Amino acid sequence: TLPEKVTIFEVGARDGLQNEAHVSTENKIEFINRLSQSGLRHIEAGSFVSPKWVPQMADSMEVMQQIQKQPGVIYSALTPNIRGFELALAAGAEEIAIFGSSSEGFSQHNINCSISESLKRFEPIMLLAQKHQIPVRGYLSCVADCPYDGPTPPQQVANIAKALTGLGCYQISLGDTIGTGTPLRIARMIEAVASQVALENLAVHFHDTWGQALTNIYQALTMGIHVIDSSTAGLGGCPYAEGASGNVATEDVIYLCQGLGIKTGVDLDKIASAGWMITEKIGKQPTSRTSLALKSQ
Ligand code: HMG
Ligand code: MG
Repeated sequence: TLPEKVTIFEVGARDGLQNEAHVSTENKIEFINRLSQSGLRHIEAGSFVSPKWVPQMADSMEVMQQIQKQPGVIYSALTPNIRGFELALAAGAEEIAIFGSSSEGFSQHNINCSISESLKRFEPIMLLAQKHQIPVRGYLSCVADCPYDGPTPPQQVANIAKALTGLGCYQISLGDTIGTGTPLRIARMIEAVASQVALENLAVHFHDTWGQALTNIYQALTMGIHVIDSSTAGLGGCPYAEGASGNVATEDVIYLCQGLGIKTGVDLDKIASAGWMITEKIGKQPTSRTSLALKSQ
């Protein structure tokens, strides 16, 4: 059975724009302000990582301080360490996310440490977050395949999801970072994880590199998952996963949900228009098929 409603967790301003070299702070702010008017309740607005690693996110402080925050919208940011947490707090983030990997190779390439070292590094962040009563989301990358290590065993995903939950993450976002997963493998992975972490605490985060994201989302919906990460206009990729393309487009997820009779609370036209605005600024077009179809009508 399908859920009655889903929560869309918008990651375009972070996962999308972390891969775009020339987006001005002003344009990021306008993009987030428009997203804020669409009915979205969760907007990832920045990332407090090393600017040497991801220079595209170096202006997250300015962005988060200057957006017009909409009541009822939770603005969050990525924090890999205590330094990032303190910056996120100063920027006014109301929620943060730690991000680990279910494969060793990606962990090393993305955050420069092993999985077990990363879990140790997350502990003091969790303590501080608890002290400040900031909810923490946990991302888990490479839940299907790793660009360095190959296929990820579902049990390994489950074990690390459990560890992140044990650390205090309220939700685990299962990332198919390079978008190679197909429905049966995704189903096996979700089954394994759901044996360790309650389904209601899981989200899916699918990149669309191989064109499977929507199909995999449908699979996840049938299994009871009701939080979906997506990126307006299909922006994005990952700087440490070569060839990875954007997340599933928010427009496409909304259209799918509309067709299935599932409420999202998000206005498709407003999202599409925000997507055209930001892609025009970077000299591109949305990759969202729904957005392109709407435009040609
Ligand atoms: P490191 O080099 O091992 O650590 O990086 P370090 O502590 O030696 O720091 C290196 C430099 O960065 C130092 O500067 C630090 O001060 C500075 P220097 O002394 O050389 O001048 N630094 C910072 N600056 C600002 N804010 C900070 C910060 N931390 C250190 N918070 C580290 C380790 C984790 C910092 C680094 O590897 C890093 O920043 N990685 C982030 C990579 C990243 O952002 N990847 C993309 C996001 S994850 C993703 O997209 C996947 C996801 O979407 C899910 C999916 O699709 O799978 C979430
Ligand atoms: Mg991602």
